[in-house]
Amino acid sequence: MFAHLSTTVFLAIIVSLWTTLYFYFRRNFNYWKDRKVPYLPPMLLFGNAFEVFTFRRNIGEMARKIYESTTKPFIGFFICDEPYLLIRDPELVKSVLVKDFALFSNRSVSDNKEVDPMGSHLLFILKTPDWRDMRRKISPVFSSAKLKVMYDLIHEAGVEMINYLDQKVEQNPVVEIRDITGKYTTEAITSTSFGINSNCFKNEDAEFRKVSQRVLNWSIWERAISTSCYFVAPNLVKWFKLKFVDTASADFLRNAFWKTMIEREKTKFVRNDLLDILIEIKNQEDIDDPYKLEGDKLVAQATQFFLAGFETTSSAICFTLYELARHPEIQDKVRKEVQATLKKHGKITYNALKEMEYLEMCVKEALRKYPVLSFLDRRCSSDYQIPGTDVVLKKGTAVFISGWGLHYDSNYYPNPEVYDPMRFTEENMKTRPEYTFLAFGSGPRNCIGARFAYASLKSSLAAIISRYEIEFCEKTKDPLIIDPKGFLLAPISDLYLKFKKYDKM
Ligand code: HEM
Repeated sequence: MFAHLSTTVFLAIIVSLWTTLYFYFRRNFNYWKDRKVPYLPPMLLFGNAFEVFTFRRNIGEMARKIYESTTKPFIGFFICDEPYLLIRDPELVKSVLVKDFALFSNRSVSDNKEVDPMGSHLLFILKTPDWRDMRRKISPVFSSAKLKVMYDLIHEAGVEMINYLDQKVEQNPVVEIRDITGKYTTEAITSTSFGINSNCFKNEDAEFRKVSQRVLNWSIWERAISTSCYFVAPNLVKWFKLKFVDTASADFLRNAFWKTMIEREKTKFVRNDLLDILIEIKNQEDIDDPYKLEGDKLVAQATQFFLAGFETTSSAICFTLYELARHPEIQDKVRKEVQATLKKHGKITYNALKEMEYLEMCVKEALRKYPVLSFLDRRCSSDYQIPGTDVVLKKGTAVFISGWGLHYDSNYYPNPEVYDPMRFTEENMKTRPEYTFLAFGSGPRNCIGARFAYASLKSSLAAIISRYEIEFCEKTKDPLIIDPKGFLLAPISDLYLKFKKYDKM
């Protein structure tokens, strides 16, 4: 009898636990209905992000799919039990990113100060008021004048890349290019931000390359899960003490940073890199400044260059080369421009790059088709009435913008599948509404490294294109498949292209 009773009690506990959880996870599911906002019906536990949690789609693809599910100016959806709003209308995008920025200055991405002190000081993750202060201090690093001086270091990394590519092509004209662009951006970024030659091209086991391969490597499940949760599951970040930068990588970067910093302060050696600028900022700071740049706050600034710069820029180079290989006529046209500019300047310089306008259009069009960070996220810091409507978003509501969705919207980009750099002539850009090209975001919280990215992208592409004709080969995967894990767009597999020396000048 007791056995029978205990089974009944057990079943009753399970049923009441399930019922409690069921109602708990559904408690917000009327959020959009109550506000009369169109929304996607959510699934218990996952909301509308089931495919993200099961690694069938990355976060950017999810946002694009939601964008394409409607023609309305905005649509509600859920990640787990949390309501999110995806906005589609470029005017509304402008309101959130620019006009009403004071209410949307934070990303929705989590921070986890207790377990990830360095990661939570990254500009990308910081919240106001700390973010505002850090952005103000760091912005001069990315000025055109500073970048022009830093450019020599980017150029040196490009020379190393070309020497390495020459050797590879001599052995076999079919080359896996993602590894080479990854080495190039790691080399350029460690040189400019950590003041170190990472030797990626000379040493296949270079420490910095190993860290760059680990830190944002989505085939390492633990990394894919941790970083994705930062965007879609803030509670899991806290509960499971997940880190944006894993401990081993953070320790390695911290040691590398302090070793060079201490040496630099001792020897007063000047290299015109980020470290010099950080020392300058640090020395000018007020002793009572509550946001003083010290300890992990300093390390995070160099780490940020590294994290935000190497994978994004490397993938953007690959996407551009892929499209140029597919379109020989566009490749010829851009090569002519690069060669004419090189004839005028003698070599690739910062000023020469500025004159390569068609090359920049090719890069922009590649970033339109493959915006490496393909969605933007913000969280409102007080109740917000959506302009021109009665809808009031509750303080703390997260807002997503799908750059990728806007880039593939045929209202703004007819035949969006077609790679056509002419979309980015000044004239053609004027025919589109503002805020329909968001590869680097927009407003006060846009990509601080955009100038740096264009310089390293154009520099490497000009060096490759002026030397080689690039073609598809049997090993080229066409179409490119995007990795369904993580939060950045990258091809899922290696990218093989055929390189033929170009000898006509
Ligand atoms: C092709 C290369 C790159 C692309 C496509 C890219 C794209 C983006 C995008 C879309 C954002 C979000 C902007 C927003 O929310 O409005 C962002 C933020 C950011 N990017 Fe980049 N980025 C690239 C390269 C770089 C580089 C090279 C650096 C540094 C050297 C960098 C540093 C940052 C930082 C620090 C933020 C956060 C800014 C803040 O919150 O204040 N990025 N990037």
